[in-house]
Amino acid sequence: MPKTYLMIPGPTPVPNDVLREMSREMINHRGPDFAKLISETTELLKKVFKTNNDCFILTASGTGAMEASVVNFFSPGDKVVVGVCGVFGERYAQICSAYGLNVVRIKPPLGKGIEANDLEKVLEENPETKGVFLTHNETSTGVTLDLKELAPVVKRRGILLLIDAVSSLGAIDLPTDELNIDVVVSASQKALEAPPGISMITVSPLAWEYYEKAKLPKFYWDLKKAKKSLEKGATPFTPAIPQIFALRKSLENILSRGLENNFKRHIMLGSAVRKGITSLGIFKLLVDERYASNTVTPVIPPPEINPDEMRKKLRQEFGVVLAGGQGELEGKIFRIGHLGYIEPSDILVTLSSIEIILERMGYNEIRGKAVESAEKVFLEG
Ligand SMILES: Cc1ncc(COP(=O)(O)O)c(C=O)c1O
Repeated sequence: MPKTYLMIPGPTPVPNDVLREMSREMINHRGPDFAKLISETTELLKKVFKTNNDCFILTASGTGAMEASVVNFFSPGDKVVVGVCGVFGERYAQICSAYGLNVVRIKPPLGKGIEANDLEKVLEENPETKGVFLTHNETSTGVTLDLKELAPVVKRRGILLLIDAVSSLGAIDLPTDELNIDVVVSASQKALEAPPGISMITVSPLAWEYYEKAKLPKFYWDLKKAKKSLEKGATPFTPAIPQIFALRKSLENILSRGLENNFKRHIMLGSAVRKGITSLGIFKLLVDERYASNTVTPVIPPPEINPDEMRKKLRQEFGVVLAGGQGELEGKIFRIGHLGYIEPSDILVTLSSIEIILERMGYNEIRGKAVESAEKVFLEG
């Protein structure tokens, strides 16, 4: 296998000590070893979520946790507001619609986030709204929402606030309890530096009150089942044990490095990528600095560069794997993931490889520019 630089916004590279956890001997998921594993992992997760609320690990990708956050708290016909800044916000809206909720979308222009004023206006126009779904970090467009501004707009009304933190948890600060966020969902394979296959969800006391009244059908996703099982140190159904071993280790790593340090590191990585890419004078960023994500950067190439062909060359020649555009951005952009177990050295290799490919395509006087700009960011720390 040639060396690979997995610079996509998930799954992300997994450190060796985390990978090795997956080769442990299998254990009884109803026995004491698993009870220890699930309770330790859940407690570590709560620290990363910054919450004292209930937290459950689900055997499913992030979308499973999204679905769980819909079916546990609402009834058919309930009105919900969904922020749609890209593909994953739209996915939330579609899950809500699939279960017969009355969905009101807030959809800012592509590459922009949702402002508190706009949310306020939509909620004033829809006073019967029961809950608001927002994507903390919209992976398809690289837009991060300012939850410190948005959460109070929702919580003032005493309704549920539900956050998709799949591509932000661990990398971008998310103070769940301080912001009074009722439900947060995330997944193992992004900033948490673990393999794919499990997701997690937090549930506030208010969300449990909603649960008692909710009439949507549920079985696998029924969080009361998860709560009862967790009290006994188990899960209702057979869990992805190797992934939970791995997640426990990766959470230990992140917390021993320090969560706040991890946020700072992602600010530095994001800044290095944005400065590096724009210094070439060839590319535009989809998102301006106000909403720019520190975990993923979408880049718009000039018309003469096909982003998918460029990605193919990067992969074949240098083993650098970038992501393409999704939804309406398919074929129009490329995205650089810089979350989780990604180091400055990975960013430098990525930018340098892009420079070489561009020079081969005939672009002059770009050599070293992106790398130098990123180096400056790393030198400043
Ligand atoms: C913001 C966001 N939400 C939800 C998902 C869906 O997660 P999964 O692919 O694990 O189901 C993703 C995956 O990329 C994501 O980035």
